[in-house]
Amino acid sequence: MLSRLLRNTIHLMTRQLSAFNKRRQQRLPLPDPRMWGVDVRDNHLAFGDVLLEDLAKQYGTPLMIFNRERLLLDALSIQTALDQKINGSRALVSYKTTPIPGVLQELHSAGLGAEVISPYELWLACKLGVPGEKIVYNGVNKDPDSLELAVQHGVLAINVDAVEEVAALKLAVKKVGRKANVGVRLGFNETSQFGLSVKSGEAFEVAKLLASDNENFNFNCIHFNATSGARNSKTHIHYALKALDFMKALLAETGATVPYLDIGGGIGVPTSKQMSGIEFVLSRALQIVPLPPDHGDFEPIEHFLDNVVQKIEDKCGALQMPLPKLLMEPGRFVTSRAGILLTKIRSRKERTNDVTFLIGEAGKLNLTLPMDFQYHEIFDIKRAQAPRNKSFSIVGRVCTTADWTVRMKLLPSGLSQGDILAIMDAGAYFTAFSNSFAFPRPPVIIVDERGGVTEIRRRETYADLVGCDTISALL
Ligand SMILES: Cc1ncc(COP(=O)(O)O)c(C=O)c1O
Repeated sequence: MLSRLLRNTIHLMTRQLSAFNKRRQQRLPLPDPRMWGVDVRDNHLAFGDVLLEDLAKQYGTPLMIFNRERLLLDALSIQTALDQKINGSRALVSYKTTPIPGVLQELHSAGLGAEVISPYELWLACKLGVPGEKIVYNGVNKDPDSLELAVQHGVLAINVDAVEEVAALKLAVKKVGRKANVGVRLGFNETSQFGLSVKSGEAFEVAKLLASDNENFNFNCIHFNATSGARNSKTHIHYALKALDFMKALLAETGATVPYLDIGGGIGVPTSKQMSGIEFVLSRALQIVPLPPDHGDFEPIEHFLDNVVQKIEDKCGALQMPLPKLLMEPGRFVTSRAGILLTKIRSRKERTNDVTFLIGEAGKLNLTLPMDFQYHEIFDIKRAQAPRNKSFSIVGRVCTTADWTVRMKLLPSGLSQGDILAIMDAGAYFTAFSNSFAFPRPPVIIVDERGGVTEIRRRETYADLVGCDTISALL
């Protein structure tokens, strides 16, 4: 009796939540693919004359596609503005965000430098021919070999993140026989593990040590990375001003003028967003789909940089200090919108309580992890602007209920086997978090402005998956 009552209550609640989800999403305007630099041809998604459907036929699915025009638009909007505002300033692409050499190479050709956070990434930047003066080495895991490589390659700044790195750096300098360009990462947030604590004075002590050791070091940089997904310049300005106070104190104490201020990444993308704490809890516990970001909330990048630079100039004037050149290391702002993940629906299953599953080729356990905590738009590539009138739970193909992509998402009702979904803003962090849990990883292609397509990463094979195994059956 009690269990029937409970079942009925759950049933009723589920139906009401489902209706609530549907009503909220139905009130939204249909998303416009042009926000991602994608055209619509007879309701089909396309880049110019190249239909996404044809790319899926040619390269198979799942498939990661990069739109070169969009990529360069976003990258150059930062690089050009920075350089115009303070000569010699530079945008660096954060390697960890999109670790795909073909994409990184495009960005380097457009003039961006490299921000690396691991020995592998440093090695990759050297392999891709990035000159030392365009590389910044950050991160919490700088092993001795990588420090030697960084010193040898003359990277612009090795930003010290922990006290222990100072001795390791001195050793690297001695071994290589060349001075190291160094900086410090300021840790403003006492609850995170990153950087040297500003509050305790640790950062200042290390900076003094480095800045006064002219035999081993050129003190080149003050760095912080204090936020993520910023919609406006407030947080960057707040911490940039604190960093300038730090520089002024260092100048007073040691006589050292620091040529670069690295204000980190953390610029938000107007087409995607980090869920708030409440949205995250509601999406997990009650399957309430978060709403898309409001584009109007985002300060255009030119204004963002204007504001930051203006405040830095004012502050340097007030402190009677030379203006440092700026470094920025945006990740998602540069690559997020340019990437689209295509995933084909393998089957459709109707279940009770209005639940309809679309079983596809991408779930969060191997391909869409960022969707666990971020909002991402989805299109049916052949019904791009069809009315959205049915809620679907889109799941992946690993055999666990944890492998979902999004639940209760409103999409055109006819979706079924063979249809292809485009998951937008897949350019940042999707590849970094992807893995080969039961299935090989997809190829990556890049489409240029004239419709030319280049495969920059082939599809992983079964042989790739066992490539490091040494048992004789596989050799
Ligand atoms: C050191 C460093 N650089 C760059 C980034 C890129 O951040 P985003 O993708 O938010 O711009 C991060 C993000 O966590 C970071 O920690």
